[in-house]
Order: sequence, then C-alpha cells, then structure tokens
Amino acid sequence: MKKKMALVTMAAVLALSTAACGSGGDTGSDSGQTSGGETSGSEVANKDKPLVWFNRQPSNSSTGELDMAALSFNDDTYYVGFDANQGAELQGTMVRDYIEANIDSIDRNGDGVIGYVLAIGDIGHNDSVARTRGVRSALGTGVDKDGSVNSDPVGTNTDGSASAVQDGTIEVNGETYTVRELASQEMKNSAGATWDAATAGNAIGTWASSFGDQIDVVVSNNDGMGMSMFNAWSKDNEVPTFGYDANNDAVAAIAEGYGGTISQHADVQAYLTLRVLRNALDGVDVDTGIGTEDEVGNVLSDDVYVYNADERSYYALNVAVTAENYQEFTDSTKVYEPVSNQLDESEHPEKSVWLNIYNAADNFLSSTYQPLLQNYDDLLNLNVEYIGGDGQTESNITNRLGNPSQYDAFAINMVKTDNAASYTSLLSQ
Ligand code: BGC
Repeated sequence: MKKKMALVTMAAVLALSTAACGSGGDTGSDSGQTSGGETSGSEVANKDKPLVWFNRQPSNSSTGELDMAALSFNDDTYYVGFDANQGAELQGTMVRDYIEANIDSIDRNGDGVIGYVLAIGDIGHNDSVARTRGVRSALGTGVDKDGSVNSDPVGTNTDGSASAVQDGTIEVNGETYTVRELASQEMKNSAGATWDAATAGNAIGTWASSFGDQIDVVVSNNDGMGMSMFNAWSKDNEVPTFGYDANNDAVAAIAEGYGGTISQHADVQAYLTLRVLRNALDGVDVDTGIGTEDEVGNVLSDDVYVYNADERSYYALNVAVTAENYQEFTDSTKVYEPVSNQLDESEHPEKSVWLNIYNAADNFLSSTYQPLLQNYDDLLNLNVEYIGGDGQTESNITNRLGNPSQYDAFAINMVKTDNAASYTSLLSQ
C-alpha cells in the first residue's frame, strides 16, 4: 500500500517535471534503459516496452482466431492464460465421472432423464465457449456446428426439442441413461457485465420454480456463477454443482456438497504474468525463472505450463478439484512454492508496471488472481499499479492509461478479446 502511494507521488512529480521542462517526452522511471536492459542513452518508447496480455487472449470473439498483430506488438509481448481446451475437457469429464459414480441416486424424480442446467459466462469469450463445449461433449449433448460443438445457449429445453443440443446417453454397468440439458443461458446483466454471478443466482431461482425436480446436476462456466446458484438453491436441495476456477469459497463448499471445480493454476499464471515482464526489463532470456532455473532457484516444471512460441502464449495446465483432493487447494491465493523465491533488488531493481483487471467485481480475478499478483510483485521487485475496470466498457480502463510514459511495462486484461487495438494505439502514440 505504502509502495503504491509512493509510486503515485513519484508519478505526479514526474508529470510535473515533464510539464515544467516542456519536453512532453517520455519520462518513464526506466529512462536510459532499453527494454532489453542495456543502457541506450535514450528513453524507451512506450511502443517498445514489455507488454503482457493475460486472462483474455487477443482474438476474434466470433471465430476465436488469434490476433497475432496484438500478440506480437513488439519483441517483448506475450499472452499468459491457461489451456482452455484441456481444462474444458477436464470439467466435462469431472461431471460425467460424478454422474457415473452416483448413478443410483442421481435421478432425483426418477423420470429416467438425468437433467442438468448450464450457466454460460460470455458467449464471446473463448474460455466460456470451450467449457460449454467440454461439458456437452462429455455428456453427449453436443451437436456439430461448422465443425465444432455448438456452444449457443438453449434457453429452456425441458422437452428435449432444442436444436443447439441433443439428448445424450451415458452407459453405466450395461445400462443406458438419457442426459438432457434442461436449460442454459448467458449470465449477462442488464448493464452488460458478463459471467455475472447475481444473474446466475436469479436464473436458478426461475428454473427451479418451473422444473426444479427435473434438475439433477448444475454446471457453470465458473465458480462465481456456480457458487451463486449453489447458495441460492442447490445446496439446500442437495443438487451437485460444478464450477471452474477453484476460488477459495468454492473449494471450501466441496465439504458441503459442491460437486467440484477446476484449478486453472492461477498461482502459475500470476507468476508468469509478471515474470515475463521482469525478464524483459532485465534484458535476460524470457525463459529465465520459467523453464530455466534462475539464480535463486525459481523454476516451473513442464507439467504445470506449456509455451507455444507461434502464439507467443504461455498456458498453465488445469487440475480437477473434487471431494478426493480438495484439501490441497484450500488457499487459492498462496504463491506456488517452486517460484516463491525473492529476487535480489540490486540485480533486479524496482520497476513500475501498469496492470488492469477488466472487472473489479469478477470473483476469480479479484479474489484469486489479483491477490496472487500482489504476492508475486514483491518477490519480483515490481511496483504494480492495479486498475479495476467495470467489466463493461474498455474506455473505463483505457481512460486510466493517460500517461503510459510513467511506467516501464504493461499487463492488460481486456473487456473484450477483440479490443487489443484500444490499448496498443495508446502505446503507439
Ligand atoms: C475465468 C472466469 C472469469 C473470466 C474473466 C476466466 O478465465 O475462469 O472465472 O470470470 O476468466 O475473463
């Protein structure tokens, strides 16, 4: 906190001195350094400063095609996220395994149909799309649309007639059971915020009052919405509810009947988000402290992340968290032990980073990701200014990047994956 205040004061002084000398130029605290770390005698232009996109990968929100211009904005640009497809498949398998293991008791009204409802986060977000597909594929309810599983919400489908899904089947001990997606909806509130937990809590109320006894399983694209539905309805009705993110409250709820969640290894992602910036600012190989052990012993093993050089993207790997192993995941904000060693400040002098969270109200980003970033920023000697967006408009965030010259590096979490240019245009000015 103190550190942040100091930064703000320093920034103000810098801004004043810029105005006073009328240079209007770059007065970044990194003056005299290139992003490669050597002394250049000139200041680093904003367009050449290290940039990491995280959580929302620059891409076309309709087709999923990666925005390579944004991903290779300069030599020190990367994306950090997690393997959305591997995680989605895990989520689907976790739900199917649960159904199979509890087949004798799962069909609450004994109508021969295992019914589930699905909370969709954001129809234009690749993670959300992947999770919807992963669940439908595992349960046999997916139908093909242009070569992949249709991820459209169905509204209500209690009679099984919706065209975006089909009735699936699950076979256990030689018997075949029908599985039906009874309802699904994008959880977007009237102001436009997606992945909206309150909207999901209301939706389960509506669904339960019209066809509650048909609902045997509740599935959600994330824990924020999943926990809202669990607290509003499924906990009392003992209906297993599955989410994604392994937020603390969701992991704790497994003891009370929450079915399970997926850890997207936010502890590894938050580290990578700041570490790629640190490495660029130090002018060292980007793999330092990642695949290659650094001088204080920080290193990641290849079972927790992959790097795809063509996509300039780091992806953390996911792990299923269920009744069997949840005890190991009770603190989602704890730094990952293999990368928890403090860097020496004389070798890695303090640098300033501008970082935004697209929606300050997002459960995962605010209760898991940001606390992790705050733990790692100290270990990596980065002075990070955290900006929280409203989850709806890009300009609410870009307005607060008024003077990029004050910072040495940037970490960006967009509202919409299509909008990278709103940020890169500010850095290119
Ligand atoms: C998380 C969600 C979160 C979303 C925000 C996803 O990766 O799993 O919980 O709301 O990112 O962009």
